[in-house]
Amino acid sequence: MSRIAYVNGRYLPHRHAMVHIEDRGYQFSDGVYEVCEVRAGRLVDERRHMQRLARSLDALKIPAPMSYPALGIILRETVRRNRVRDGIVYLQITRGVARRDHGFPVAATQPVLVVTARRLDFEQNEKIAAQGVAVITLPDNRWEHVDIKSISLLPNVLAKQAAREQGAREAWFVDKQGRVTEGASSNAWIVSRDGKLLTRALDHSILQGITRTVLIDVIKSQGLQLEERAFTVEEAYAAREAFLTSASQIVMPVVQIDGRPVGNGAPGLLATALRRDYHRHAEMA
Ligand code: PDD
Repeated sequence: MSRIAYVNGRYLPHRHAMVHIEDRGYQFSDGVYEVCEVRAGRLVDERRHMQRLARSLDALKIPAPMSYPALGIILRETVRRNRVRDGIVYLQITRGVARRDHGFPVAATQPVLVVTARRLDFEQNEKIAAQGVAVITLPDNRWEHVDIKSISLLPNVLAKQAAREQGAREAWFVDKQGRVTEGASSNAWIVSRDGKLLTRALDHSILQGITRTVLIDVIKSQGLQLEERAFTVEEAYAAREAFLTSASQIVMPVVQIDGRPVGNGAPGLLATALRRDYHRHAEMA
């Protein structure tokens, strides 16, 4: 079956889906994106993803190309046309096409909307989660507004590649104080020796992950101890458990950090239980 992409009002075969060379996303990374999980053909936490999209657009002063309900229809139609049951839907909005000039183009410039959807191998992901993944740490060299989900991801790209070259699946960024901020494409968590769940509090230094937000609800509903505070790399090395969260990986146990085993080197009990319970708390539409 051929893949279909939505580009500015049209559903096109993937190989013919293109944007102009003077799209500001292409030339300046002047755009934002969202990644939403699709499970059993339904969008997971769409409302929260749309809220975050609105905040990102606002922060960059990019006008929304259409209403949010209309966007939701396009997301669903793209999922349907690609026959995705379990996977992700990707949405990108750039400031539009205009002659290259750093300042904003004229107000009439239409933002460019692209939506794609693809399957993820559900069984394979469960296998990976059952084994756990390795992460490396490296200095956070990103700009100060990573709370905006912008498509400007070069440090994240380089960090992920560094992880892969070291046989790891994710890279955790570390701030100047030696505290973990987040992963290249996920939020970072540990379970401390005394059983507390720790993840960095929200500020400009991390993305407000939707999976993170929902997981906090799960944790509270289960009466588990949560502390939203930054943890150091040393605390992570000494942690009982570690895991990461993102729309495409849900709760993914981390079993190795910089080559050192976390806990007993196997996926943690809490991480595994939270992964199992996640979708009971997520909104499915
Ligand atoms: N990444 N932090 C960063 C830097 C991210 O890129 C992501 C998501 C997250 C987790 O956010 P959420 O739980 O809303 O997915 C945190 C997506 C999946 C991506 O870039 O593919």
